[in-house]
Amino acid sequence: MTDTDNVTFVRALPKAELHLHIEGTLEPEMVFDLAAKHGISLPYSDVAALRNAYNFSNLQSFLDIYYQGVQVLIDADDFFQLTYAYLHRAHADGVVHTEIFFDPQSHTERGISLDVVFEGITRALAMGERVFGITYRLIPCFLRHLSEDAAMLTLQALMPYRQHFCAVGLDSSENGHPPSKFSRVFALARAAGLLTVAHAGEEGPPAYIWEALNDLQASRIDHGVGCEADDALCAHLVATQIPLTVCPLSNTKLAVFAQMSAHNLKRLLDRGLCVTVSSDDPAYFGGYVLDNLLAVQQSLALTPADMVTLARHSIAASFLSDVDKKHHQQRIDKYVA
Ligand code: HPA
Ligand code: ZN
Repeated sequence: MTDTDNVTFVRALPKAELHLHIEGTLEPEMVFDLAAKHGISLPYSDVAALRNAYNFSNLQSFLDIYYQGVQVLIDADDFFQLTYAYLHRAHADGVVHTEIFFDPQSHTERGISLDVVFEGITRALAMGERVFGITYRLIPCFLRHLSEDAAMLTLQALMPYRQHFCAVGLDSSENGHPPSKFSRVFALARAAGLLTVAHAGEEGPPAYIWEALNDLQASRIDHGVGCEADDALCAHLVATQIPLTVCPLSNTKLAVFAQMSAHNLKRLLDRGLCVTVSSDDPAYFGGYVLDNLLAVQQSLALTPADMVTLARHSIAASFLSDVDKKHHQQRIDKYVA
């Protein structure tokens, strides 16, 4: 296969994106557009200067800039524009289903109401399904650097919008903020019929992945690449097929791995884990889901069969119904036949 044929092949593979922070799709151009719209002055002279600041040494150095970026999201149209631009981009990468994270506390702390956030995001998701045929789920995440009480209040504030989301998640600064800090919040969420996911094992230890599984009853682990240091954990992830939503460009930009050739995705895949590939915060990490897939394919010498496996895993790991999953797996069957 030529390089061009390969890109065409990977792009057209039906795939789900399962680890995508909508605030992380805020491109520098949109930051400047929205800042101008709202009369906000930015500490950067232009788009290039802002993009230049996207030079991260670890998770926290990224989060500092990411939380600064969201300040330009003020009204429902801003959230609509942000979400719709992502769906347009995802469609071009062959995404047929997406499960989108957002951080309610990043907005409510600035005085932006959940009404505004939900209105903009859900309007874009509905239009994206009509125009691009992309189905979706929405997953609000608690900021783990904030208190358990703050997460509890956020869960209460989210409940009037219960119909719009299927799960809750946990993100932000990992080290020093173990999943167990949020056991009671997640127990209440589960009692309300919500599924749970959590970032764990991005920079943190395997113990945090165990806590996400045992204390939070997570259905998926976001990142989870740190599992490799614990053989019993890897065996458990193989046995249960609890998926990892791995984000390769994020991992190299935040120095979880020194370079892509050092990434453990291929080893985890060969070991039988349900590994999936997503883009995390594509505006900040230099690529959307196709770029992530091509990066690991090239650096880790993934075979065409590996690429199909990643696409199949993404569907299997989604929160779609069994009927919808079967439909998409059949689309993949047909595509590779
Ligand atoms: N990790 C933790 N928090 C985040 C991330 C991430 O990759 N992206 C946005 N918030
Ligand atoms: Zn993430």
